Amino acid sequence: MDLSSSVAVVTGANRGLGREFARQLVELGATVFAGARNPASLDVPGATPLPLDITDPDQVAEAARIASDANLVINNAGVSTFARLVDGDLADIRKEMETNYFGTLHMVRAFAPVLKISGRGAFLNVSSVMAWLGYEHSNTYGASKAAVWALSNGLRAELSGDGIQVSSLFLASTDTDMMADVDVPKNDPADVVRIALEGLAAGEQEILADQAAVDLKATLSQDRGRFSGAR
Ligand SMILES: NC(=O)c1ccc[n+]([C@@H]2O[C@H](COP(=O)([O-])OP(=O)(O)OC[C@H]3O[C@@H](n4cnc5c(N)ncnc54)[C@H](OP(=O)(O)O)[C@@H]3O)[C@@H](O)[C@H]2O)c1
Repeated sequence: MDLSSSVAVVTGANRGLGREFARQLVELGATVFAGARNPASLDVPGATPLPLDITDPDQVAEAARIASDANLVINNAGVSTFARLVDGDLADIRKEMETNYFGTLHMVRAFAPVLKISGRGAFLNVSSVMAWLGYEHSNTYGASKAAVWALSNGLRAELSGDGIQVSSLFLASTDTDMMADVDVPKNDPADVVRIALEGLAAGEQEILADQAAVDLKATLSQDRGRFSGAR
């Protein structure tokens, strides 16, 4: 797809990868609606602020009404609570599912008809290598990101007849607030977003933003327990 002429909606555009998505899309010449729960926290010159909590279906529907000429949705907003499966707080685990899976699903259901009108639309759903890996303190989050992976696979089947591209993004640790307290090597968000947008423009279905994503995808048919390649 031609990003320079696209009309894009980015969720969670007030910080981290979302802000970088919005900034780079503006730089490429796209018209950008920058979604944020608190629009006052947005700092993306050239983008139009869009009040958007993806867990609120009414607000998502209103966003689809405002951005009625969108042909690209970057489903970036997400949370990680670092809860454990066996003894973590269920409220945290539900919050990850409500945001990462159901929030993304709300966006898809509201914007699929909008993208269909454009004739050549696209969703980019941000998953994670944690969809493919068991890793201490990231497993409830991983389950929600595996749900986003499955969602993307299913959408591809449901939406291809409407001319809608569905791409999913896989990345390991990246230097944003989400990973601020985790002391591991991290990607530069600008690099991740550049690779994501190049993959999106090229029509890639699964965009692998770093070596860990490449390595993990290559081992998907193997015993998951033995791999320790995530950063
Ligand atoms: N950083 C990593 O290592 C990494 C690795 C793999 C995948 N990812 C994924 O990349 C995406 C971006 O994460 P990030 O690293 O940029 O994290 P971040 O810096 O923590 O930013 C998260 C963004 O999501 C927004 N958000 C959270 N809940 C929301 C909701 N209900 N409605 C709308 N916006 C909401 C936040 O808005 P507020 O400011 O209002 O909270 C914020 O803008 C996420 O999907 C994350 O799971 C990140």
